[in-house]
Amino acid sequence: MKVISIVGARPQLVKLAPIAATFAETGHEHLIVHTGQHYDADLSDVFFDGLGIPDPDVHLGVGSGSHGVQTGSVLSALDPVLERERPDWVLVYGDTNSTIAGALSAVKMHLPVAHLEAGLRSFNRRMPEEHNRVLTDHCADLLLAPTQTAMHHLSGEGLAHRARLAGDVMVDICLKVRDAVRAGEHSALALPEGIDPSRPFLLATLHRPDNTDDPDRLSSILESLGKLPVPVALLAHPRLVARAGTHGINLAQGGVHVGRPLPYAGLVAAVLASSGVVTDSGGLQKEAFLLRRVCSTVRPETEWVETVETGWNALVPDPYALSPAEWAATVTRTAPTADPGTPYGDGRAARNVVRIIEEWKGCGRRT
Ligand code: UD1
Repeated sequence: MKVISIVGARPQLVKLAPIAATFAETGHEHLIVHTGQHYDADLSDVFFDGLGIPDPDVHLGVGSGSHGVQTGSVLSALDPVLERERPDWVLVYGDTNSTIAGALSAVKMHLPVAHLEAGLRSFNRRMPEEHNRVLTDHCADLLLAPTQTAMHHLSGEGLAHRARLAGDVMVDICLKVRDAVRAGEHSALALPEGIDPSRPFLLATLHRPDNTDDPDRLSSILESLGKLPVPVALLAHPRLVARAGTHGINLAQGGVHVGRPLPYAGLVAAVLASSGVVTDSGGLQKEAFLLRRVCSTVRPETEWVETVETGWNALVPDPYALSPAEWAATVTRTAPTADPGTPYGDGRAARNVVRIIEEWKGCGRRT
């Protein structure tokens, strides 16, 4: 069986790592196509090096652009690649512009498509990720759901016959890297200058357009972070740096200390060193949950509802609308004591994915 994985953005590289490693243990041929949606070394190269992912077989080099330009560039660059390779399966990951483009290119060539991380929903139609994931689910042949909640969403949309519960492959990699970090197999903690890891600090990221693109909102969120009674290590995504620059907003306000995005092991080490996380990233909400750090999410909703239901995550859509005392109390709250269980699986999701695809072989091919 020949499988092509199509990836392009940072979170997809994290999910690719356990999938590539699992395919390498089988006799299947696994090719990697990198769309080039993320091109900065901090968002791409360090993940290949740090997670031992083989170099991409094909690099499309599409880069940035408006949603239409980025998605269209991936589509037109993929057609000749898929035509040449004619894989048995095309595997797309998550909810990015690279995902919807990969799925569309494949279905139009009648190539079976499997969607990893299917069934997630924010029910927020302002998010580009929501359009991407809904459309990808509806055109894919096999829907690999990470959670029971995702299975439920797929069933509600009439897609149960194409859905299988696989678990979340991010658990596989997160727990493996956590153990390696604890065993001292990774180099020292790299935190922004001014953060003392022996004292409590919060780890923060912000990159969603709804938080970065409106100057008033971005400025208010940063002001709220800067006024907290604990220092904040802000790992600044290129979108955040670019938008803050355009709006003339200083990221390093008050107790905020700014650093670059970290490689995956560095991120896991930083979460473990922190006393809590403040973010709008989907992946980091789950990593905080898996590494047992309380998380506060600067969004009105989350796809990862289990993190909230178990008390490890709190939604804070507008931190500046809270009093400084309430905001501080939220981000520094104590961790829940009840066992949250394993809503995202037991760390063997990549094996489930490969097995489900093998068993599905032939079923998904269109005639
Ligand atoms: C993308 C995904 C999002 C994912 C995130 C993780 C979509 C619609 N969004 O958001 O689901 O959570 O990746 O990081 O696919 N930029 C750089 N260097 C890079 C990449 C981006 O400077 O290597 C800057 C550019 O100014 C670009 C902006 O970031 O215009 C946005 O990049 P884009 O890939 O469109 O979306 P992300 O915000 O990274």
